[in-house]
Amino acid sequence: MLAMTSAPAILVFDSGLGGLTVFREVAAARPDARYVYAADDAFFPYGRRDEAALVARVLEVMGQLIAAHRPDLVVIACNTASTLVLPQLRAEFKVPFVGTVPAIKPACAASNSKLVTVLGTEATVKREYTYALIREHGNNCAVTLIGSPRLVELAEAELRGNSASDAEILAEMTPCFVEAERRRTDTVVLACTHYPLLLQRLEKLALWPVNFVDPAPAIARRVVDLLGPARPSANPLPAQAIFTSGKAPTTILAAALARYGLAAGASASV
Ligand code: DGL
Repeated sequence: MLAMTSAPAILVFDSGLGGLTVFREVAAARPDARYVYAADDAFFPYGRRDEAALVARVLEVMGQLIAAHRPDLVVIACNTASTLVLPQLRAEFKVPFVGTVPAIKPACAASNSKLVTVLGTEATVKREYTYALIREHGNNCAVTLIGSPRLVELAEAELRGNSASDAEILAEMTPCFVEAERRRTDTVVLACTHYPLLLQRLEKLALWPVNFVDPAPAIARRVVDLLGPARPSANPLPAQAIFTSGKAPTTILAAALARYGLAAGASASV
């Protein structure tokens, strides 16, 4: 555990708004911490970026964010980045990083039908990191990898006040539901932090009931392992959301951020 004399500063990072689903759990576990939520919206979506360009981008932005905010811990609340850039981040910076990677181990351990689907960005489901998780923790499950081309944008649009239609969401999620030899998929790993933003819609539209696995509670537990439990604090410090595009959030987005306990703060242009 890290030795800490005052409330820790935690930076939560994603390409966009998906990391809010991780931020919510971490902030509930450590409400006394000082938070900065940083969205690299200028380079969004990460799932369509070339790997070398994404590594260079995340290292550059992280260098600037660490210099500006001096976090005690950084949560990479993005599977697309974590499955690619964590080793380079850990080599480059001293601050501890907690990554978000597909929750394949708990999903395969819990599946009864042994048919598990990993739903992620097109990039995450092609990463060697993801294949290695399946090799090591597949637990004799048949794992179907589905890269969704549109679900990230649909989730962003939802928070920005443009609700996706049922047909649009269904088109992205239908391939997750597999039937084979009288067995059916019973577990779907949400391997992109944007997808839990749509959880209620996913549950409503599911072709049959499945367990959608969101890694956020496990990330929060890992943060508490590293920083220790919350301390009593009379006034939780205000959390700040910043956007690398420098664009000010619309009224609708600012209201959505406020529901997560975030104030749209000073923007950073990177
Ligand atoms: N939220 C991100 C993830 O967990 C990626 C979204 C994007 O493509 O930018 O993978």
